[in-house]
Amino acid sequence: MSKETDKPTQMARLILPEKEVELPIVIGTEDEHAIDITNLRADTGYITLDDGYRNTGSVKSDITYIDGEQGILRYRGIPIEQLAEHSTFVETAMLLINGELPSRENLAQFRASLTEHEMIHEGMRHSFAGVPPSGHPMATLSAMINTLSCYNTDVMRMEDELTFENAAARLMSKIRTVAAAAFKTSVGEPMMYPHPELSYCRNFLHMMFSIPYKDYEPDPDEVRALRLFLILHADHEQNCSTATVRMVGSSGANLFASCAAGVCALWGPLHGGANVMVVEQLERIHKLGMTVEQLVERVKRKEERLYGFGHAVYKSYDPRAHILRDHAPKVLSKLTVNDPLLNIARRMEETALNDDYFVSRNLYPNVDFYSGVLLRAMGIPVNMYTVMFAIGRLPGWIAHWKEVHDGETRINRPRQVYMGAVKRDYVPVDQR
Ligand code: ACO
Repeated sequence: MSKETDKPTQMARLILPEKEVELPIVIGTEDEHAIDITNLRADTGYITLDDGYRNTGSVKSDITYIDGEQGILRYRGIPIEQLAEHSTFVETAMLLINGELPSRENLAQFRASLTEHEMIHEGMRHSFAGVPPSGHPMATLSAMINTLSCYNTDVMRMEDELTFENAAARLMSKIRTVAAAAFKTSVGEPMMYPHPELSYCRNFLHMMFSIPYKDYEPDPDEVRALRLFLILHADHEQNCSTATVRMVGSSGANLFASCAAGVCALWGPLHGGANVMVVEQLERIHKLGMTVEQLVERVKRKEERLYGFGHAVYKSYDPRAHILRDHAPKVLSKLTVNDPLLNIARRMEETALNDDYFVSRNLYPNVDFYSGVLLRAMGIPVNMYTVMFAIGRLPGWIAHWKEVHDGETRINRPRQVYMGAVKRDYVPVDQR
């Protein structure tokens, strides 16, 4: 688990009506300070109240570092900009899951393992057959990840490192097969088998867009764009879905069940679902012939949110949005896609960042603001955007689940301050 700096222990002093207590100060490797309240209730009877956990460090973690003020994001210490430029999604996943960049040999072994596990059990076709085409692919994805644990029962007991590595490879490989199958189900096309000779990203595009009598041949820039998208989404420390995975995992639930719960948390429009909302908002502006200024005015009157703007942690430009903003136009021009939504997005950004409403609230573009435009250029349908996010985020979920599993984490159990009715008697129905 986390290596604290060897600075001398400092203490914080808390003055309560009845007594004064000292609480240890924990200092992280990047000089973040936290007051350790683990024993506060036992020592004083008090708990802390922190609506939405926004000021609560629920864990000491070694995986990802974010500085929201300066717009810094690092996986295992490596800046996201370097990984975006030099790494692959599979390598980045190994970095997150194992803590180090893999050797050439380990990378090859993991890739072989991904290939070995790329198919799903034929019995799962029945599960897909039971999903109506109108079903949302996120619902299907979550359900099917849980179904996978029925076909991979050994993941229930994670006895050693090898079993874990095998389970991680299985889940990472199969999520892309399941995601593509969820899409094919939603459009009523036959599911495509994976192709063992294709890379992780190409294989996914093959399963999405090939049809039984015609293989899809993606442009190399499309494959690169997908790789970039997945790397940028691979982890983001204690966000809503990752915290969910950790919470579920803390009960001892298996890796697959915990990640299925993560998919559900990610679905919400304030989290991963925002990438859909962004594109729908931009499309609405385009279709109705609105100006960006008109939308900004509606946002300022609180009639709607500007999706893809604002972040719970970043109070400056999200570094992932920076990379996507620079990359999206290049991909679009290489794929000879002329998307009016990109221009609207750029004008929207410029207008918002010159408006006091956004400036005074530190509302900058987040990762979702440009990701939808990129996915559109790749021909990914809108109802799959959050599924794409889930494929990208999976290595992070796996890494966090492992940290919980290997650590001394107790079952997560927040407390509350009860504000409801005090004791009263039950009233029979005919007397109410
Ligand atoms: N559009 C308009 N106003 C906003 C926005 C926005 N996108 N985000 C925040 N605000 C305003 C709030 O109305 C509030 O204004 P007030 O002070 O007048 O009441 C102020 O900014 C602070 O907002 P909070 O809701 O407290 O900010 P919080 O940090 O809780 O919310 C969140 C973060 C949920 C991401 C928010 O910014 C939002 O809803 N953004 C749009 C959805 C989105 O893009 N989500 C993706 C986030 S990235 C991710 O999950 C991968």
